[in-house]
Amino acid sequence: MYFDFLKYYFKAKNAHGIHSPFVFDFYNSIFKGKNAQEDFSEIENIRKLLLQNNKQIQRVDFGAGKKNNHPERVSDLARTSLKPRKWAQMLYRLISKYQFQNIIDLGTSFGITTLYFSKAAPNGKIKTLEGCPETLKIAKNNFRTLNTNNIETIEGNIDVNLALAINKFEKVDFVFFDANHQYKPTIKYFELCLSKIDENSCFVFDDIYWSEEMKNAWNTIIHHEKVSITIDLFFIGIVFFKKGIIKQHFILK
Ligand SMILES: C[S@@+](CC[C@H](N)C(=O)[O-])C[C@H]1O[C@@H](n2cnc3c(N)ncnc32)[C@H](O)[C@@H]1O
Repeated sequence: MYFDFLKYYFKAKNAHGIHSPFVFDFYNSIFKGKNAQEDFSEIENIRKLLLQNNKQIQRVDFGAGKKNNHPERVSDLARTSLKPRKWAQMLYRLISKYQFQNIIDLGTSFGITTLYFSKAAPNGKIKTLEGCPETLKIAKNNFRTLNTNNIETIEGNIDVNLALAINKFEKVDFVFFDANHQYKPTIKYFELCLSKIDENSCFVFDDIYWSEEMKNAWNTIIHHEKVSITIDLFFIGIVFFKKGIIKQHFILK
């Protein structure tokens, strides 16, 4: 992964190398943008409490970890599994700028990133899917603490539940893929979600360099015929489906 990062870093461009007006705007207002008006302290206070919580929970893992029914400390999971503040706030800007309303969140964990989605789309509908009951119980408690009313939680294996969740939407604006970091499920979930996109939809894939399988999955996705613009930010990959523009792949830092 270190070598992948070096390769990424030397290929990546900043604002000067971007000739697409859409991506230039994305770079300035979303990737490098600031949330001057926003107060995220309520969400970040919940993250702090999770990081201090030494209670053990029984994990059920349907993902690449697959170490089922082993106890793990909430604090350890919060430290290693949640999207850091910087990235969660970038996703907040992405959702609020493009006013995404119908949102699918694959891999709730403790719901920290989901809370950012909820704040970014106060009138939207967020369906968040998680396979581990004890993890989801903590997430639901966090959603109650912040009085959210736009999040629906769906418990169980995404392999089974994604099709049901997606069919409840006429169209899907935004999907965050942060659950099963393996090739086959990633591509299966991607293809399922494609059935409900329009040209303004956006998908975000987490951990695109996490493993050979994830690198291959990202490579398959960027070459898909329905995909037009893809942006590699190393820790995440962003996919747009805009029509009438040349298919292009960007590596940005
Ligand atoms: C990396 S964490 C998600 C972190 C979360 N997006 C955040 O930033 O706050 C991945 C979660 O996906 C769940 N998961 C992985 N594979 C799954 C599957 N096939 N079905 C349901 N949940 C799954 C795991 O239990 C884990 O809680």
